[in-house]
Parts: sequence; C-alpha cells; structure tokens
Amino acid sequence: MKIGIFDSGLGGLSVLNEALSKLSEHEFLYYADVKNVPYGQKSRDEILKFSFDAVKFLIENGSNAVVVACNTATSVAIKDLRAKLSVPIIGMEPAVKKARDLSCDDTLKTLVIATPVTVNGAKLKELIANLNAKDKTEVLALPRLVNFAENEDFESQDVKSYLRDELTKFDLSKFDFLVLGCTHFNYFKDSLREIFPSDVKIIDGNEGTINRLINELSLEASSPRSAPKIKFFYSGKEVFNKSELDKISRNLSRLQKMREIC
Ligand code: DGL
Repeated sequence: MKIGIFDSGLGGLSVLNEALSKLSEHEFLYYADVKNVPYGQKSRDEILKFSFDAVKFLIENGSNAVVVACNTATSVAIKDLRAKLSVPIIGMEPAVKKARDLSCDDTLKTLVIATPVTVNGAKLKELIANLNAKDKTEVLALPRLVNFAENEDFESQDVKSYLRDELTKFDLSKFDFLVLGCTHFNYFKDSLREIFPSDVKIIDGNEGTINRLINELSLEASSPRSAPKIKFFYSGKEVFNKSELDKISRNLSRLQKMREIC
C-alpha cells in the first residue's frame, strides 16, 4: 500500500513519524508544499487550491490513501477533497476530543494552540460546540511558530520570548490540557513543557490520525522495520538534494525526541 502524507511544510513529518512507528512496511510519499508555506495566514481559496494540487499529485503518483497532516488544510478543504477525489482521505483536527476523553471530570480546561485559519475557522468552533466544551476551552493562534519550524529555529531566544509573550495572556495554571492544533508545533514541545506547569498534559492529534488511517483501510499495525520506503516531494518535485534530505532527517530525529514529552 502506498500512503500519501501532505502538509504545507515539514510539520507533517510528526505524522509520518507516527505512521512509521506502526506502518513501516508500507510505502510513503511525503508532500511538503514549501513554495506556499505558511498556510495559516493565507486565504481559504488559496488553501483550497494548494490542497487540491497536493492531494491530486499524491494520487497521480500512486497513493492508495492520503493523510492531510495539516490541521489548517483539513479545516478548509477536507470536505471538498473527499467529495471530489477517489481515494480515502484522512484529515486532522486539534485533539480536543482526546482531551475530553482523557478528562476524568467535566470541569477540566483545555488551551488549543493552532494557526489563525484553524482558530478562526468554523470547523474548530463546531468541534468545540459539539463536544459541549465551549466554556472549558480557550484558543490561541501562534502563527510565527510555523516559520520558526521551517527555518529549524526550535530553541532560540526569539522562539522562547515569542512563546512567553503570547502565553502570558493566560493564567496557565488553570489549564489541564494543552492541545497542539498544528503539526508544526510538535517541534516546540520541549520549550512548551518548560513554560507550562508540569501537571498540564500536552497532546496532539498524530496518534488518533494514524489510528483512523489504520481503521479506515483495515491495515494491521506492526513494529517498525529498519529501512522504510519514503519519497519526499517539495511542492510537486521529488527531493534529491542531500542538504534537504539531511534537513528532513534532522527534523525527524528531533520529532522522535519530542514524542517522549507529554
Ligand atoms: N502544519 C499546519 C497545521 O497543522 C499548518 C502550518 C501553516 O502552514 O501555517 O495546521
């Protein structure tokens, strides 16, 4: 089985990482739309067009299923992609439901961080309303984290001050969960962990998304094997350049470390 994974950039590598931990005997095509990243501050029409270009490309190149490893593209385009394209398409949404499922009582509070398009989109608002979680959930857009991640700037003073400045708007001690509603934010779990009180659980949607892929396609999860088959594409061009492949592998290693933080 060939599985396509699409993100605006390299945030979706966190979803690929999760997929490799369970489905490494399959082939993967990873599409990063580096020409157009960041999506989180673009218009809905632009995001819709970019998402169609990417997912169609993955299907034309043999993907039997596509994971939209981007909360922003999912928020804007998932319904249209599913309606118009012929393979199973799995989307991603901020893991507010996971936070609710992990809550042992009804008063627990969640902060969702995501891109402006996700934060302001109807999809997240509907999700929160459907879970009856309006008065227990706050949202914050952190658009600059996407550029920091694309530039491999994960731990600089700029990153730390940005996070501290944005998060001082909240009394962090009142939260029980921090939901990473953008796949790029996984790169910053260590800095976020330092800022939030230790009893705030950090959660993301990666595991849920790959479990949905496994269920929808009736796949079997297995332990990782040594050399998975993956091709990387930047906005429709296969990546052969050694320095870019090295960057991808550095990012995958960082994400592997970040997986341990919760
Ligand atoms: N990684 C994306 C997400 O999960 C979007 C980042 C961006 O391009 O703004 O929302």
